[in-house]
Amino acid sequence: MPVTAKFRLGVDDDHLTFLETGRIAADLGCAAIALHARTAEQLYSGTARWAAIGELKAAVPTVPVLGNGDIWDADDALAMAAATGCDGVVVGRGCLGRPWLFGDLANAFAGRTVAEPPTLGAVCDTMIEHLDLLCAWAGEHLGVREFRKHAGWYLKGYPVGGEIRRELNQLTSREALAERLAQFDRAAVMLPNGRRAKRGHQNGPRKVALPEHWFERVDDDTALDAAAESATSGG
Ligand SMILES: Cc1cc2nc3c(=O)[nH]c(=O)nc-3n(C[C@H](O)[C@H](O)[C@H](O)COP(=O)(O)O)c2cc1C
Repeated sequence: MPVTAKFRLGVDDDHLTFLETGRIAADLGCAAIALHARTAEQLYSGTARWAAIGELKAAVPTVPVLGNGDIWDADDALAMAAATGCDGVVVGRGCLGRPWLFGDLANAFAGRTVAEPPTLGAVCDTMIEHLDLLCAWAGEHLGVREFRKHAGWYLKGYPVGGEIRRELNQLTSREALAERLAQFDRAAVMLPNGRRAKRGHQNGPRKVALPEHWFERVDDDTALDAAAESATSGG
């Protein structure tokens, strides 16, 4: 069973541990390592520091290095690979409301043409399919409520007014979604700034809570007790 590891740059700018973490993971036999090029303190703020992915690739040549952070479309992935020499990419928020991103990435890395973003009509069809799958998984009551945030992500970057977005945010049935989507202009295309429209978490920076004296004993491998798992322990 191949095991991979994913980690951040470190706790904060004064404690950057990604090179050491990468070497340890490779030495322990990880099949690949992935770096989210932000610190824990950064959380989702600022931009991912792709240069660090290149540093990791140079420092750990024995296993594939996957880069992560701020890949919103296929061009971003190609740019990251070119800038860092990474062996592959990990997608986070970029696929929210854009499930076709994975197909775009496969095409981009295979040197094939990447399609233009779908028309609003094609997005609507995908939304219905997604909602149906979600309802089959979680039941209609939960599925519809869970889908509200996805509706916002799907429509981000398309010419759909704020009032409609608010309405979809209170969606209570599949029928209501289908009715609303049927009123959209199916030929509408994504707005120029839609490709990198931010979706999902934007929060941070945030001070990182660590167990008391943690920095003084980073090499201490005594197993943590159950209290370390409590929500308030920071550990
Ligand atoms: C819906 C969602 C779920 C995620 N779940 C995990 C997870 O289980 N483990 C993890 O290490 N990171 C998780 N992440 C973080 C991403 O893997 C990624 O590191 C982060 O979003 C930064 O990449 P981005 O700038 O492309 O979004 C998740 C992100 C999203 C949007």
